Amino acid sequence: MVSEKDFISTEMASIEKGSFQWSSPSNIALVKYWGKKENQIPANPSISFTLNNCKTITKLDVSKKETNYTFSFDLLFEGKPKEDFKPKIQKFFERIEKYCPYLKQYHFTIDTENTFPHSSGIASSASGMAALSMNIMSLEKALNPTLTDDFFYQKASFLARLGSGSACRSIKGNVVVWGKHSEISTSSDLFGVAFPLQLHENFHNYQDTILLVDKGEKQVSSTVGHDLMHNHPYASTRFEQAHTNLSALKKVLENGNLDEFIKIIESEALTLHAMMMTSMPYFILMKPNTLEIINKIWKFRNETNIPICFTLDAGANVHVLYPENVSEKVLQFIQQELVGHCQNGNYICDQIGNGSQLIQL
Ligand code: DP6
Repeated sequence: MVSEKDFISTEMASIEKGSFQWSSPSNIALVKYWGKKENQIPANPSISFTLNNCKTITKLDVSKKETNYTFSFDLLFEGKPKEDFKPKIQKFFERIEKYCPYLKQYHFTIDTENTFPHSSGIASSASGMAALSMNIMSLEKALNPTLTDDFFYQKASFLARLGSGSACRSIKGNVVVWGKHSEISTSSDLFGVAFPLQLHENFHNYQDTILLVDKGEKQVSSTVGHDLMHNHPYASTRFEQAHTNLSALKKVLENGNLDEFIKIIESEALTLHAMMMTSMPYFILMKPNTLEIINKIWKFRNETNIPICFTLDAGANVHVLYPENVSEKVLQFIQQELVGHCQNGNYICDQIGNGSQLIQL
C-alpha cells in the first residue's frame, strides 16, 4: 500500500531556470466530501465528475536562488499581482515542503487565471490547487527525470489534496474516487484515483449546466464547514451513508440506471446541506432561488420523464446534470424556466472532461 513516506522526494539534480504551464479543471462531487481528519484525510470517500470548461490555467516560472531559508514567490492573477491569494499559497508550500524539500531553493512566479468569472461563486480552490500541483510536479520531473507517469500523477493528486481536499480529484480521469472504499481496491485517503470500471455510455459527455444563483462571498467557508462535522450529532451515520452511496453509485455508473443515479445524487446534495443546517453553529447556504430551481427541476422531470437532476456544492449555485442526448430540450427548459432565477441570468455550460492538461510553452 502506498504511504505518505513514498511521496518524500530525495536525491535531486538542480536547474537554473524553468517554465511550466498546466490547466486543471474544476470537479463536481456526486458523493460529497464533508468532514476531515488531521492532514487533510477525508472522513468518508467521495466521487466526482471532472469538468471540462471550468478551469484554472497556471504558469510557473522557476529560478534558482542563492539562499534557501524561506519560500519566495510572486503571485499574479490575470497578469496582475494579487497579494490576498498569497497566504493560501504560503500555507500550501508549508504543508508540502516535507514532500518537496527542493521548494526553498527556487524563486517562483505563479501566474494564474480562471476560465470562469472570478466572482461566480464557483470554487477555484480545486482547480487552482490542482494546476499549481501539476506545475510543481513538472519541476520535480525536471529535477528527477526518472519519475514514472503513474507516480507523477499520483503525487500531483497527493500534493493537491494538501492544498484543498477536493483538488485531488482534478488531476486525472473523468470520474475520480478519493478516500478508501472497500469495493474500490485502488482507492486511497491520500490521493484521487480514476474510477477503475467501465463507465456506461449513458454517462459519456454527461452535461453539467451550472446555474449561478449567488456570486456573493460565502458566509461560511468549506474549511469551517468541514470542521463543524467534529462533534456533529449525525456525523457517524453520514460517513457510513457515504460508503453505502458510493457502493450503489459504483453499480449505477456501470449499468447506466439513470433513475437510481438521480436518487443518489440528489439525496447526497440535500444531505450535504442538511449537515450544514444541523451543525452548531448552523448555517444555510441555499438561497430562495436555489429552492425555486430545485422545485422546477422536479416538476419538469415528472412531466417529461427526462432524466435531469441537480446537485449542489457548498453554496447556492445549482449544477444541473443530464445526459447529452436530451441537451436540446433541457437547455430550452433552462432558458425558459430557470435562467430567471440566476443572478443577472448567468449560467455556464460544462460537461464531463478528462483532467489536467500540459500546455506547451
Ligand atoms: C462541498 O475541498 O473545498 O465541495 O479541503 O478544506 O479545501 P478543503 O475543502 P474543499 O471542500 C469541498 C466540499 C464540497 C464537496 C466535495 O467537493 O466533495
